[in-house]
Amino acid sequence: MPAKTFYLETFGCQMNVHDSERVAGTLEARGYAAVASMQEAELILFNTCSIRDKAAQKVFDRLANARPLARQGKKFGVLGCVAQQEGEAIYKRAPHVSLVAGSASYAKLPELLQQLEAGAERVSGLGEADAAFETELTRRGNPFRAYLTIIEGCDKHCAYCVVPYTRGQERSRASGAILREASALAGLGYTEVQLLGQNVNSYRDPSPAKLNFAELLAAVGEVPGLRRVRYTTSHPRDFTPEIVAAMGRNPVLCDHVHLPVQSGSDAVLARMRRGYTRARYLELIAAIRACPRPLAVTTDLIVGFPGETDPDFEQTAELLGEVRYAGAFIFKYSPRPHTEAQAWPDDIPDERKTERLMILQQRQQQIQLEDNQAWVGREVEAMVEGRHPKLDQWSGRTSSNRVVNFSAPAPLPPLAILGQAAPAAVGLTPGAYARVLVERAGANSLVGRLTA
Ligand code: SAH
Ligand code: SF4
Ligand code: F3S
Repeated sequence: MPAKTFYLETFGCQMNVHDSERVAGTLEARGYAAVASMQEAELILFNTCSIRDKAAQKVFDRLANARPLARQGKKFGVLGCVAQQEGEAIYKRAPHVSLVAGSASYAKLPELLQQLEAGAERVSGLGEADAAFETELTRRGNPFRAYLTIIEGCDKHCAYCVVPYTRGQERSRASGAILREASALAGLGYTEVQLLGQNVNSYRDPSPAKLNFAELLAAVGEVPGLRRVRYTTSHPRDFTPEIVAAMGRNPVLCDHVHLPVQSGSDAVLARMRRGYTRARYLELIAAIRACPRPLAVTTDLIVGFPGETDPDFEQTAELLGEVRYAGAFIFKYSPRPHTEAQAWPDDIPDERKTERLMILQQRQQQIQLEDNQAWVGREVEAMVEGRHPKLDQWSGRTSSNRVVNFSAPAPLPPLAILGQAAPAAVGLTPGAYARVLVERAGANSLVGRLTA
């Protein structure tokens, strides 16, 4: 009997990417086969993100465009944060959808699919957002980096943020289970693991071992076979110098901290309910800079938060120069359902938001360009992620998460397409490590040649 086929498209953060890996594994265990296009699929799934209005709209655009396929008998499902937030209202906006399930209901997916297969017109899984989804059936889509969830949900309730409503309350996994999974991943050949959570720093071990995040990170760093351990995301309120100390002791813990600041103005930070001041944030940056090994710091910023004045914005712009981030994701404020700030006037006009966004992006690009140029003439270790056949270049990342594009001397190893495993016999494959001499640098990447 031919397998039933599914197409799964993912929007949003790494947690969604990892959820999709788990959903794919669950479906495959039920006899479904993944296909690469909607045309080939019987079941079309979107794993959605609701962090900003634009992100949430994207799925409705995709659904509208794909609607003609529903006439061919294909079924549509909406998963993830938009599903959790909108629930059955999705059926009204997109009547060709027949499955809606939030992340807390993925354990029930086999059951829901069975109902669909048995002829049910519509099935929904919309339990409390904080139910657990543990599965052994993960199908990891990334051949070189394994995601490993350590904490789900978020209790912070930043005034602008929808995540606590779509992902529920914080719940940490037991440290023993995390360490076992890390060892199993090393056993499968992964050398890079990324610990995931909306706020990893507030990790609280429910087991008697009672590890805090710094202790857990140190323990994962000791798992034999792992060469790079990353984590995301950190929250300044719960970030501790102990984490930096653990990183300083073990170079397996990558040279990178993503520490979202959101704003450089104390007045805005207070209204955002972030729970720290600019001065406190800068103390953390000083602790990170004091690490014996240089650590790259990246951040997230929001412009145009309600009531953000020109002087508030100037303080954010000025902070960029003070911290000199290695990267920054900059967003225009977008009011979200259920959040505290939704009730406040969204009083910064869109043109002003765009202008502020562009000013920050420009400053940030200049800083990155200058700092990346300081790498020219130095050798870095890149983990190979793939090859750009057109550019005749390999692409990888340093421990500090910088992109490195590099050429390798002839004869060229066989082609490996980005994101796909190449034959294991060749020296350069996704997941391999290469020494690269940096010869040039742009704002977003280093460029060099293979030395070993
Ligand atoms: N848990 C992480 C990231 C959450 S979402 C943290 O606390 O840092 C990723 C980023 O999206 C946030 O850091 C924030 O910069 C941005 N974001 C969240 N809600 C937003 C909103 N309503 N409008 C614009 N940007 C938002
Ligand atoms: Fe959202 Fe704040 Fe939680 Fe991050 S810490 S997920 S921004 S509520
Ligand atoms: Fe988006 Fe949900 Fe992640 S809202 S950012 S996919 S937790």
